[in-house]
Amino acid sequence: MSSITELIHSIPVDPLTGAISVPIYQTSTFVQDAPGEHKGYDYSRSNNPTRAVVERVVAGLEQGAAGFAFASGLAAIDAVVKLLDAGDEIVAVDDIYGGAFRLFTRIYQKFGIKVHYVNTANAENVADAITPKTKLVWLETPTNPTLKISDIAAIAAIARRNGALLCVDNTFASPALQQPLTLGADIVLHSATKYLGGHSDLIAGIVVTKTQELGQQIKFIQNASGGILGPFDSWLVLRGLETLHLRVQRHCENALAVAEFLTGHPAVDQVFYPGLPSHKNHDLAVKQQKSGGGVVSFTLRQDTEIAAIGFVTQTALFKLAESLGGVKSLVCHPATMTHKSIPEEIRKVSGVSNSLIRLSVGIEDKADLIKDIEQALAFASDLRELSHSKSLEDSVLQSAHLL
Ligand SMILES: Cc1ncc(COP(=O)(O)O)c(C=O)c1O
Repeated sequence: MSSITELIHSIPVDPLTGAISVPIYQTSTFVQDAPGEHKGYDYSRSNNPTRAVVERVVAGLEQGAAGFAFASGLAAIDAVVKLLDAGDEIVAVDDIYGGAFRLFTRIYQKFGIKVHYVNTANAENVADAITPKTKLVWLETPTNPTLKISDIAAIAAIARRNGALLCVDNTFASPALQQPLTLGADIVLHSATKYLGGHSDLIAGIVVTKTQELGQQIKFIQNASGGILGPFDSWLVLRGLETLHLRVQRHCENALAVAEFLTGHPAVDQVFYPGLPSHKNHDLAVKQQKSGGGVVSFTLRQDTEIAAIGFVTQTALFKLAESLGGVKSLVCHPATMTHKSIPEEIRKVSGVSNSLIRLSVGIEDKADLIKDIEQALAFASDLRELSHSKSLEDSVLQSAHLL
């Protein structure tokens, strides 16, 4: 059976009533016949029937042994880091999601966990950074927002040889395009806020483990720390999952068309999209992912914040907002938004330059999306000619609430 059919039918019909949509068990507790004698559920932090379905379905999608749903992607990341002890080290991808960087440095560093950031696009850098203290290797591939690709199979082998776990944040690709556990990773993580949910209407996170044993450790942390996903949001993720393959296919088609349009446009400098043959990790992307994904990043020839802010405040269909992976197209300026918490020197080394713009290409008609980008690029180019005008600069910054 195709994985598309399998996904849709892995979402069960309710055995009690025959409801075709999974019921939302909006309850905190479950009545017991005698202490400890119950129908498999006692308290919704520990387990909830609606959450249990989404956990099982995503575990199946990622071909893992067990899945766990959290209140956010960051709560999911937090649960994975809690597998470590004080004194342990992490080797992480250098252009990591800003929130993960903040969690690692501002929270876990003070508990004695050290993180080394390396360019994981070269697997050798991971091998060089690993020490006997390294217990976890942390990848995002493609990365956010420069869409760098790392070789999951090669890095999994390095991690295994050194007794470290490999966790892959698979948010950008989604399991419709890439299944890291089948390539040797131990843990897969999602901000389900993005493609899994798919409609920009919830915040959620998922952890899937390759083994039941690792799953039991995450289960313990999930219950002990309590950052669980509620029943209604679990249902929203399930609802999104039903159309995951359909949406991701359309996101990818549109994103490729947008990336091709941007390539060679006179106002555009670099285009980052793994589906383009010009992308420096294209061969690996083709090997590892089914398609290029729904996110395209690019820089402007005029590499300034003012030009980028001119663009992101001028698009009409691409709404200026953090996040990605929803049906509506979004645009974001990482340097002043998602990656604001990363110091400028580190941000620039990892490729997040002042004019870098990230597009989350939605499922609208691609011709309309391209028209929108075209007019915003024209506006940003005019801005360059007028950039000596202080009042114009102020008004652009004002509209982006940066003054
Ligand atoms: C790659 C990646 N991982 C994790 C997160 C965190 O997820 P959430 O916002 O659901 O907490 C994000 C959020 O943008 C992300 O882009």
